[in-house]
Amino acid sequence: MVAHKDTVCVTGASGFIGSWLVMRLLERGYFVRATVRDPENLKKVQHLLDLPNAKTQLTLWKADLSDEGSYDDAINGCDGVFHIATPMDFESKDPENEVIKPTVNGMLGIMKACDKAKTVRRIVFTSSAGTVNVEEHQKNVYDENDWSDLDFIMSEKMTGWMYFLSKTLAEKAAWDYAKEKGIDFISIIPTLVIGPFITTSMPPSLITALSPITRNEAHYSIITQGQYVHLDDLCNAHIFLYEQAVAKGRYVCSSHDATILTISKFLRQKYPEYNVPSTFEGVDENLKSIAFSSKKLTDMGFNFKYSLEDMLVESIETCRQKGFLPASMPDQLKSEDKVPVSDDKMENKTGSAGLTDGMAACKKTEPGMTGEKTDGRMSAQQICA
Ligand SMILES: NC(=O)c1ccc[n+]([C@@H]2O[C@H](COP(=O)([O-])OP(=O)(O)OC[C@H]3O[C@@H](n4cnc5c(N)ncnc54)[C@H](OP(=O)(O)O)[C@@H]3O)[C@@H](O)[C@H]2O)c1
Repeated sequence: MVAHKDTVCVTGASGFIGSWLVMRLLERGYFVRATVRDPENLKKVQHLLDLPNAKTQLTLWKADLSDEGSYDDAINGCDGVFHIATPMDFESKDPENEVIKPTVNGMLGIMKACDKAKTVRRIVFTSSAGTVNVEEHQKNVYDENDWSDLDFIMSEKMTGWMYFLSKTLAEKAAWDYAKEKGIDFISIIPTLVIGPFITTSMPPSLITALSPITRNEAHYSIITQGQYVHLDDLCNAHIFLYEQAVAKGRYVCSSHDATILTISKFLRQKYPEYNVPSTFEGVDENLKSIAFSSKKLTDMGFNFKYSLEDMLVESIETCRQKGFLPASMPDQLKSEDKVPVSDDKMENKTGSAGLTDGMAACKKTEPGMTGEKTDGRMSAQQICA
């Protein structure tokens, strides 16, 4: 597949993953049509406009997953589409209309736009681990053949249920449509994505990953048995799969798994000034981690470049530079003294914060997990805390 100088559409371009992908695509010579809901909102798009090559290779397009036909113009004439946008309002009072329908209908709208355009050679969809392992009993290893249990999701209605449901339904609907119309469709399944970032708000997944530092206890269970991928590896995998003609089907993109004890041990050694706890309520020191296998991706020749340490250090350094993390934390911090994140910096990061993936918190309590406080049903209030 000839990739350089292709024109590609990136949906959800202003976000944590979208903006980094746009940066990497511009570097590689792609012409990028970045869709955002409000191109006039400089707070949300200035970081895109400031990217190298943006003046000559980037255009902003207004599109909303809730509006039928909204993506037609941006996609018409494109060689490829990276579909990243997704609504993640876990506090929604109307999940069906605010999350599920936009995600599923928006996905289908994008598929239809690609079909109509006749120019799109491949669609790359950013799926989620939430389509894979939301089920009552956890396996040791997950891969592309696994799908989340929709009956379990609907019966539990755990925090984030509408996100897991909507991503799963959207991906399945996309597969059906792609098969029916003969569209070249690839899905990427990232686990918890962390690393440096260019957005002006705190990425939801970092709120979770750095919770041992901020003592945001509501998030501990999510990373009790977590899986991780570096943002740059993930974006490079998107481009790799777009460019590899032989790519086909679903691809897990996850390079590391670790228990919260491994994470906290590293943080204690590297950043003693944060006084990260060494034990976590309900977490057994012999707890095993749960893996997501990226064998299909690496067998195709993709190499992950970053270690788990890189991910954590680069996340922390970026957060410090942008003022999202203090330079140190007192020892024995009580939970009510959690590090405040200003509303401004949390803009549009509602109850979804970090629950996007590595979703242990959204399952029933497993042996050795911290979920006993929540039974996997933390309120959105707690998640945001
Ligand atoms: N971060 C992770 O750990 C992780 C892991 C696995 C999968 N993912 C997937 O990666 C994608 C991006 O996640 P992220 O972490 O980058 O989140 P993010 O920073 O919150 O970005 C989400 C983007 O979706 C857009 N969006 C939300 N609702 C929309 C709607 N109704 N219509 C159009 N656009 C809408 C937002 O655009 P506006 O600027 O217009 O608000 C935003 O740019 C999602 O599909 C998520 O499922 C993320």
